[in-house]
This record gives sequence, structure tokens and C-alpha cells, in this order.
Amino acid sequence: EQQTNWDGSPMVKYRGFWYLKRFIRQELSSHKHFKARDSDIILSTLPKSGTTWLKALAYSIVNRDTIYRDIGQNPLLTCNPHTLVPFLFMFEENNPHEFDQPTDPRIFATHTPFEALADSIRQSACKIIYVCRNPLDQFVSIRHFLIDNKIEKDHAGPLGLDESFDMFCEGTHPVGPFWDHMTGYWNAQLENPRKVLFLKYEDMKEDIVFNVKKIADFLGCPFSSEEEERGMVEEISEMCSFQSLKNVDRNGYSFKGIFKNSTFFRKGEVGDWSNCLTPAMAERMKKLVEIKFQGSPGLTFKI
Ligand code: A3P
Repeated sequence: EQQTNWDGSPMVKYRGFWYLKRFIRQELSSHKHFKARDSDIILSTLPKSGTTWLKALAYSIVNRDTIYRDIGQNPLLTCNPHTLVPFLFMFEENNPHEFDQPTDPRIFATHTPFEALADSIRQSACKIIYVCRNPLDQFVSIRHFLIDNKIEKDHAGPLGLDESFDMFCEGTHPVGPFWDHMTGYWNAQLENPRKVLFLKYEDMKEDIVFNVKKIADFLGCPFSSEEEERGMVEEISEMCSFQSLKNVDRNGYSFKGIFKNSTFFRKGEVGDWSNCLTPAMAERMKKLVEIKFQGSPGLTFKI
């Protein structure tokens, strides 16, 4: 099944989820070739749910010894987190060596639904962190991202707001339907909370220090009391804040020249949807969320 995304880029449906066609071969190749190690860390999200933030946080938490040995050499001061933590679907096709990384643990990111993750990810002892975001904010964020990047230059232009919102609510968007994506990881964490940590963007905005500690605990590298006394948790939270990351490398491109770095840092707020969407749209989403998440108590969004 094929469709075009809101900006005109082709999408294909594979095992119940929509993928951007330009990445599908690499996506499938990564399913086949990626062999997870028990020590790996996999960061998973729907696009525009806080992936960049999570990458910066996980990288800083795991590598804090090296970073703090020479704070001036912290790579986060000079590179986009996407350079430090690659997406599995961005690797060259059919080249398993691409996944070699000198660091241990290795950290990778993905937008792949839980059910479609490479077998070795689900079967190994590697850890998975998922961040989910209020679908209304996610929708607004994707829309801006597509428009700002003008990915399909030959296309007439992005679909109107109403039309794109219709498609989003029908689940026709990159790696949608969002409800199936979220509930897949939600159920996985209920089944195995030592393997999957489920975070919400909104909770992270509310108390990032708490969540940095939670991530470190989950990854098996909790902050020692000495590290806490030194204020390391607060420093990492600050280093990975929207403002700090936004100021780094704003003019470059990530993803082999496809996306502008600046487009990963727009507003970084909770509830921006209310500036862009009508009350009727919000009402429609509220009803949709109630239906789609009725089997997942606890998975709620403020609408
Ligand atoms: P907005 O478009 O609402 O501003 P992703 O990283 O998954 O591509 O998501 C991008 C969204 O996360 C954008 O949302 C972006 O501004 C926001 N973001 C990026 N870095 C952030 C950070 N350090 N803290 C909070 N939000 C951040």
C-alpha cells in the first residue's frame, strides 16, 4: 500500500505501519543486519517526540566520566546529538559493519515500532528507552518540520492543515498510526520494565532532574551520592536543555544533508498545539485518544 505524506513524500505501509519510502530499504536492511549486544541501548520514539533530547541525555549520562574528565571536550558543545547517536535506519544498506561503534555501550536510535524491531533487539538483554509525546504537539511539530525542511522540492507544497490533521487522525503519517506505536512500547514496558523504560515528553519537561536519575537507574549506571553532591545531574539536565542544544551547530545539516539542524529545535514546549489547532480538532483528538488508549490505563494526554 502506498500514500503520500503531507509534504508530498511517498510513504509505504509495511506490517501495519507507514514508513517514508526513502528510508524503507535501509529500515529493512537494519532489521536484517543489526545484531544487538546485551550492552546496547536503543532509544525509540515517534518522529518529533523528543528524540534529539533523549539522544543528548542518554549520551551524556552514559559517557559522563569521559565528559567530565575534560568538560571543554564535551562533544555536545560542538555536535548535534544526531551525530553522536545514529539512527539504525540511516546506515548504509546491507553493510553490517556500519553498526560498529568504538564505544561501549553502543547507543542507537530508531523510530521502528516495538513489534517490528530486529529480533536481536527484543531477544537480547539490551535496554530500550521510549519517549512519547502528546499527539497534538507531535502533529504540530512534524508539520513545521516538513514545511521548514521542504523535503520534496518538486512537490506542489505541503497539504493544508485540515487535510494533514485528517491523515494524522487516520494514522497515515510516518511510523503511524501513533496509537499503535505508543501502545506497542507501553505494553512492552508493562511486560518487562527492566527492558523497556517508557517516558513522556511532558513529564521530562516538568522535572528533568528526576528523569535524568530515572534514566541512569534504568541503564544500570545510577548517580553516586558524590556525583549528586557535585551537581552532576543538574549539569547534565542543563547541558541537554532546549536552549543549550539549540545554540550548537545551528547552521549545519544532519542525516547526510537531508535535514537542517536548526529544524530540530523549534520551540520545545508543551501545549503549543493550542496556538495552531482549533478547539474542534482538539475535541476530535480527545475522542480518538479515549478510544485508542482505553486498553492502556495510565497512557493519557492532557487535551
Ligand atoms: P517542537 O517542534 O514542538 O518545538 P525530535 O527530536 O524527536 O525530532 O523532536 C523535535 C521536537 O523536540 C521539537 O519540538 C523540538 O523543539 C523539541 N526539542 C528538541 N530538543 C529539545 C530539548 N532539549 N528539550 C525539549 N524539547 C526539545
